[in-house]
Amino acid sequence: MLDSMLRDEAAFWDSFYENREKEIPFFVNVPDENLVEYFERGLIKPGKVLELGGGPGRNSIYFAEQGCEVDAVDLSETAINWAKERAIEKKVDIRFTKGSLYDFEFEEDSYDIIYDSGCFHHIPPHRRMTFLNLIEKALKPEGKFVITCFAAGDMGAEISDWEVYRQRSMKGGLGYTDDQLKQIFSNLELIEMRKMKEVKQPADTFGVPFLWTGLFKKRGVK
Ligand SMILES: C[S@@+](CC[C@H](N)C(=O)[O-])C[C@H]1O[C@@H](n2cnc3c(N)ncnc32)[C@H](O)[C@@H]1O
Repeated sequence: MLDSMLRDEAAFWDSFYENREKEIPFFVNVPDENLVEYFERGLIKPGKVLELGGGPGRNSIYFAEQGCEVDAVDLSETAINWAKERAIEKKVDIRFTKGSLYDFEFEEDSYDIIYDSGCFHHIPPHRRMTFLNLIEKALKPEGKFVITCFAAGDMGAEISDWEVYRQRSMKGGLGYTDDQLKQIFSNLELIEMRKMKEVKQPADTFGVPFLWTGLFKKRGVK
């Protein structure tokens, strides 16, 4: 019922991706700067990866190039088709699933890394628990969760959960403070959180200064 109060996300994203020439920062086909840095610092290592809301696939492709086995889920068929074309061009194998992450079927404790670049801030408040459960259940113990998310004050709507339903809109995505993200993901252990570094294009990585980048770890078995 609450889903039906808000826009049809699949239809929105399908039309969003129709014109590939639009000046959208994340339409570049390079990975997030924080992701590359985590690999370089050994904070994440090749393994089994799930990308949530992977869009046209730039981070999934990078994971696959690092030797990861990659599953990518996205609501938008247009985005998945674009990602498939890019994967063929880059000669990498990625398992794509078109659909909502809310319905994604997975084996418990099976992923080394779950990656979200810019999806969580589009998740409505009543679906946050579904998002959290997916991460908790799908990650292996000690598995890593990475998020990039609108930083309140720099980008994203600063409205209460109640206002989302009163206005029947997520206003293009919610802005979060670092404390809010730490609280929401407090079942995980925080490794580090910082603002994304700005990277002027063209470049080998993507970076815009209005996103938080957070790296978390699922707690091990006690
Ligand atoms: C801002 S875009 C980011 C795309 C990609 N991660 C990138 O950075 O290039 C957000 C993506 O999340 C996807 N998305 C939003 N809600 C979703 C959901 N419930 N399940 C799966 N994908 C979702 C959209 O289709 C869109 O491709």
